Amino acid sequence: MVKILNVVGARPNFMKMAPIIAALKRRPNEVRQTLVHTGQHYDEAMSAAFFRDLRMPEPDIHLETRAGTHAQQTARVMLAFEEVLIAQQPDWVVVVGDVNSTIACALVASKLNVRIAHVEAGLRSFDRTMPEEINRVLTDQLADLLLTPSADADANLRREGIPVERIARVGNVMIDTLFQQLERARDSNILNELELSPREFAVLTLHRPSNVDDPESLRRICSALGEIALELPIVFPAHPRTKARMSEFGVSAPAGVRMVDPLGYLDFLRLWSNARLALTDSGGLQEETTALGVPCLTLRENTERPITIEQGTNRLVGTDPSRIISSAREALTNDASYAGRTPELWDGHAAKRIVEALIERAGGSSRGGSHQLQSMASLAT
Ligand code: UD1
Repeated sequence: MVKILNVVGARPNFMKMAPIIAALKRRPNEVRQTLVHTGQHYDEAMSAAFFRDLRMPEPDIHLETRAGTHAQQTARVMLAFEEVLIAQQPDWVVVVGDVNSTIACALVASKLNVRIAHVEAGLRSFDRTMPEEINRVLTDQLADLLLTPSADADANLRREGIPVERIARVGNVMIDTLFQQLERARDSNILNELELSPREFAVLTLHRPSNVDDPESLRRICSALGEIALELPIVFPAHPRTKARMSEFGVSAPAGVRMVDPLGYLDFLRLWSNARLALTDSGGLQEETTALGVPCLTLRENTERPITIEQGTNRLVGTDPSRIISSAREALTNDASYAGRTPELWDGHAAKRIVEALIERAGGSSRGGSHQLQSMASLAT
């Protein structure tokens, strides 16, 4: 029996972990799984709504660490997770994505010599001012099994000296969730609630520190959005940090930009999949719009998901207002130029491949984990 400890912490983790949990559940004679929620995201709208929408089981263990500075958040997760790991003694810790909970738990597992599988390994923005980039690089250095979504991720890892035998290209697990939930999202009433007609609005997400923590860049982006909204109304489900920054800086949403509370998975899927255009600084939405062929303008100077530009419907437009406005106008007049294709292995079966890799490689030599865990356990008592 392979003991697997799955970790989630923040909103973008849930849609990556849900299909893995479901796929593990289909192998009851081979695996036993435990779900740990670090509590990095804790609001009903940022966490519980996703568990419901994605029909995820309640976490077995909740660390309730909550927000803080990066160091506080990472340290709190580490302290609480170390106790869990010593008690649970799993064969694998599975971490997903690039949030602070990901690196915190990977760091703890590596010191206890418990094997780490990193889902969504190998993505790189090459921008070390982004906290997520630090989390990606370090988690990948620590991981024993690097589960990648695309060939560019494999190449990044090879360049960083990761041995090829640790890398398994499994595809994009978030797209498993997308395909699984499309049908259910049709029942969402969000378009009626917001009185929107398909293709007659744009959708916006914005929460990166580089965009929203600096009053000047937030104002510049908002001025561009105000111009675009003269031609096409924009719906903006706002992240709590963005709302907090806007009120702190006295920046209000321009006319035509409708701020709403964060949406659950199904409502948000219904919303963006019916949008004429997505404007975003999120990583996940760049991939999701590529999978469904919705034109997407990414309001960042770089992306760790270049495949969405090379193959999909994403364009990197930066944060210069005139460039954002001209790119949006171009997208609205010539959306045929946004035709793309879905990348290889973004096929709805990534979770199955992840579970196969976990089971296949569980039998290999451990890093001496149980010995290390036992001596830690005796230290702790
Ligand atoms: C985190 C991730 C980011 C991801 C984003 C998606 C890191 C470094 N960043 O950023 O990669 O794209 O999640 O949402 O891990 N807050 C609430 N309620 C919540 C969660 C957060 O009010 O449920 C507020 C808190 O005031 C908190 C702030 O939002 O201080 C930011 O939350 P935090 O988890 O620190 O980072 P995110 O910006 O959400």
